[in-house]
Formats: sequence, C-alpha cells, structure tokens
Amino acid sequence: MAPTKDLKSILSKLEHNDSAKLAEQIGEQTQQLQSRMTGIRRKVAILSGKGGVGKSMTTVNLALAIARQDQQVAILDVDLNGPCVPHMLGIRGQELTMTPEGARPPVGPLGIKVGSMDFFLGDLSPVTWNRPMDLSPIWLGTLEMTVIREFLADIIWGEVDYLLIDLPPGAAADKPPVISSFIPDLDGAVIVTTPSEMAMDVVRKSVLYARSLNIKILGLIENMSEFRCPECGVESELFESQADEMCDALDIPFLGRIPFDRDLIRSFDKGKPLLDPTHSTIARYTEISTRIREVLDYKKILAEQL
Ligand SMILES: Nc1ncnc2c1ncn2[C@@H]1O[C@H](COP(=O)(O)OP(=O)(O)OP(=O)(O)O)[C@@H](O)[C@H]1O
Ligand SMILES: [Mg+2]
Ligand SMILES: [Zn+2]
Repeated sequence: MAPTKDLKSILSKLEHNDSAKLAEQIGEQTQQLQSRMTGIRRKVAILSGKGGVGKSMTTVNLALAIARQDQQVAILDVDLNGPCVPHMLGIRGQELTMTPEGARPPVGPLGIKVGSMDFFLGDLSPVTWNRPMDLSPIWLGTLEMTVIREFLADIIWGEVDYLLIDLPPGAAADKPPVISSFIPDLDGAVIVTTPSEMAMDVVRKSVLYARSLNIKILGLIENMSEFRCPECGVESELFESQADEMCDALDIPFLGRIPFDRDLIRSFDKGKPLLDPTHSTIARYTEISTRIREVLDYKKILAEQL
C-alpha cells in the first residue's frame, strides 16, 4: 500500500466503499499496522473517563520521563478532534516524512517519535474537521477508526521501548473494542483522574469496562488534587483525595499524584516543554514512570511463569 498522507483522499476512497469492501480494507489495514508495530516493546494507553483531566499533559510528561531513563520512546496521539501532543512538545508544523517504506514520524525533545493526527490533518485543522452531520454515530465511529487505522498502517516506528498512546476522551467508555483492533497487544492502560466525585465515578466505570474487555489496568494517576505554589514550591491540598481508597476497592495500583502546577501550563501550553528533571513536579513524573515500568516488568515476569 502506498503511503497516504491526507485525510481527504481517505475520505473520498471510503465514500465509494460497500461494506464487504470496507471489511476487506479493515483486514488489510490491521495486518499492516500489526507488522509496523513489531519493533515496539511495550504499548501503554493513557485513559480517562472524562475529557480535560490532563491526559495529554500526563502522556507527554511520562514520555519525557521514560526517555530520560535512556529508553527509546514514542507517542501516538490518536485524537482526531483535538490532537495537541505536537503543540505541547513544540513540534507543531513538522510533517511526516514520506518514504517508499512508509511515513517517518517527526522527532521531538529527547528523541521522542511523535505520531499525531495533527501531522495528518494538514489544512483540515481539528477545528475545520467538520464531521459529516448526516451519518449515524455507528458509521461515524467506523469512519473515524478507519481514518486512524489508515494513518497507523503507514507509520514507521522502528525500534521503540515504550509507545504511549493518548486516546481520545471517553475512549474507555465507548471505544475499547476498537482500541484493541488498532493497537495489537496493548500491555495495559494507565488511568488519569481528577479528584472530584464526578471524575472518580467515571473512572470506576471505565476501569470495570476496560477489565471486561481484558485491558489490563497498570494503575491510576491523580492529577490536580494539590496546588504547587509557584513562588516557594510548597504543595497544598485542594481536594480531599479518594484515590487511595478507590485503588484499594478496585484492586489497582496507585501510581501517584501530580499537583496543579502553573509551570506546566506556562511551558507545555506554550509549546515550550519543561525539561528540567530537578523541578519538583517533573521529578514526580519520573517517580510515576518508574512505578509504571516496574508494574509492566512484574506483569511480564508473571506472564512468563504461567
Ligand atoms: N497538573 C497540571 N497542572 C496545571 N495544569 C494542568 C495540569 N494538568 C493539565 N493541565 C492543563 O489542563 C488543561 C487540560 O489538560 P490536557 O489537555 O492534558 O487534558 P486532556 O485530558 O488531554 O483533555 P482532552 O480530553 O481535551 O484531550 C491544559 O490546559 C493543561 O495545560
Ligand atoms: Mg488530550
Ligand atoms: Zn508559597
């Protein structure tokens, strides 16, 4: 299959498809993306039940933390409606390099390879990506997933130790069967939440749902339960955290807390990633990434003994 770059050509191809052809196309895509991913050692999805809880911030910072531990890291940003990873890493405007072998992803700080729908949407920016209004939600979902698969089937990842996948909000709740169809052999999912009761409730549901689909939960990260004072660095509690109790009740590891930190907003939201490993919040991400790697290794040992 020749590398395809733009969304318009994929959409035009799809319009003429009947369902038998579509099934065939999905089969081909799945096979190709499977072979594209053979050099990837670990694949971890970052999930949240709700949008806006800091999933992308977490994905990007865990990727940087793992890369700092001398690992080859890649990020896959599969949000069609608001891909923001390239912006946060300061590589917005870069493009996939088309070669006869496939599409080479841009490389961000610390050698992180980034596959983002942002590079793919081109002049169809997330804002102008007007989804066809007359389609049923099911067909719309199929269409989106086909676009994502087509995109993934072309990316040359090469050798990667950790691929972190930033899934669109609500993916755990409405789309997990499809996740497994475009990401073969997912090693597990990390759940991100904020401490409000609502988000917790949503998390509980996503955990149970992901489990019912055999997606392993590697643990939970609580974002923004504390506030880090930008002047002195002291952290104070904003909400009473329930994360410990919830992790106990759901029998999942608690991976740690990230405070609300203005430094994160002032850097990543401006496309200038904060890379200082001695910054206390960045150090938290390092601790959490170490825990995730331990959980993954532990699971691997267990699996080998069975
Ligand atoms: N710990 C934090 N401290 C300060 N700001 C944060 C923190 N985490 C996230 N933010 C900010 O909150 C906003 C939402 O974060 P982010 O985009 O990562 O959420 P998301 O869950 O990926 O959202 P979406 O569902 O839209 O994809 C961003 O402006 C981000 O900079
Ligand atoms: Mg996001
Ligand atoms: Zn202070």
